[in-house]
Amino acid sequence: MILRVLPTLNDALRKTFSKRLPASTFEMADLGCSSGPNIFLIISQVIDSIHGICQQAQFKVPEIRVFLNDLPGNDFNAIFQSVPGFFERLNKAKGKMVEPCFIVGVPGSFYGRLFPTRSLHFVHSFNCLHWLSKIPPGLKDTNKGTICITKSSPGSVIKAYAKQFETDFSAFLSSRSQELMPGGQMLLLFQGRHSQNRSTEDCVFALLGQSLVDLVSEGVAKEADVDSFNLPFYKPWKGELHEIIEREGSFGVDRMEISEVDWVSRDNDDVEFPSGQYLSNIVRAASEQMISRHFGDAVTDSLFIKYATNIEEHIRHQNKGKLVNFLVLITRK
Ligand SMILES: C[S@@+](CC[C@H](N)C(=O)[O-])C[C@H]1O[C@@H](n2cnc3c(N)ncnc32)[C@H](O)[C@@H]1O
Repeated sequence: MILRVLPTLNDALRKTFSKRLPASTFEMADLGCSSGPNIFLIISQVIDSIHGICQQAQFKVPEIRVFLNDLPGNDFNAIFQSVPGFFERLNKAKGKMVEPCFIVGVPGSFYGRLFPTRSLHFVHSFNCLHWLSKIPPGLKDTNKGTICITKSSPGSVIKAYAKQFETDFSAFLSSRSQELMPGGQMLLLFQGRHSQNRSTEDCVFALLGQSLVDLVSEGVAKEADVDSFNLPFYKPWKGELHEIIEREGSFGVDRMEISEVDWVSRDNDDVEFPSGQYLSNIVRAASEQMISRHFGDAVTDSLFIKYATNIEEHIRHQNKGKLVNFLVLITRK
């Protein structure tokens, strides 16, 4: 998904530079960076883009400072330990960099303030904003037998999730509106849904909830534990996003695109696992902490084995399953 977004990243940087040249340092932030290699893939692309743009326009290439943000529990040490190797690879591949790049860790929630007023030129956040700041209040005893919104969720559950998303996304925009300079841009990639109507769309977490229910009928998990567990996960549709951005009022929308990838897209070389296991591993990486805290390690292990089998079945008998993503590019007015 990130590889598909890189051309838009280049366009966004070009636009940022055309509006406001950084005095000496280009200040940018990756919000929800996690601790894996995607961080360096993106930084490397940003350095390439900025050098290309500056060479073409005959600007002096600025120094670049990249703020890496995630929740305080993120493994920032792992990131910092990878930084020297990244610079070594970069220098080997591209020769000595013209201007240095500085990397800084910023622990905290992106649903609040993270940076000083008007201090950033560019912000991006990939694969994060579908995670809410908390489980919506009022779900207890109303969302039984599942762990998120499903095709058959009652209206009150859908309303509670939508309200929480609205609160969170508004807080995200309002915090960034204070931190970005006028003309600064924000590129966001996160999961969403095609239409207002939920009844036709698949969700990887709905199938995870179904797998928990299967474990209840096998006596492995407790029904009460499933009934009291909900994920802080919400997929908005285009209308909601436009409405929230408009109401917050600080950003103009340059681009809002929707794209799909198969649940199991094997266009990389990773054929080590069968499809179900492959997707199960990805979903486990994103949700294991929350699940094992509630259900314990033994249920969690059984769950992801069951889930892998259910994914295989779903892909074979129903359809391939699609992840729907929004790409949103907005500019600080
Ligand atoms: C699936 S990972 C995405 C990592 C990376 N951006 C990528 O695309 O490969 C989602 C990340 O968002 C972080 N995250 C979720 N909610 C957050 C919040 N409120 N503030 C900061 N980070 C958050 C999680 O901790 C996790 O590392």
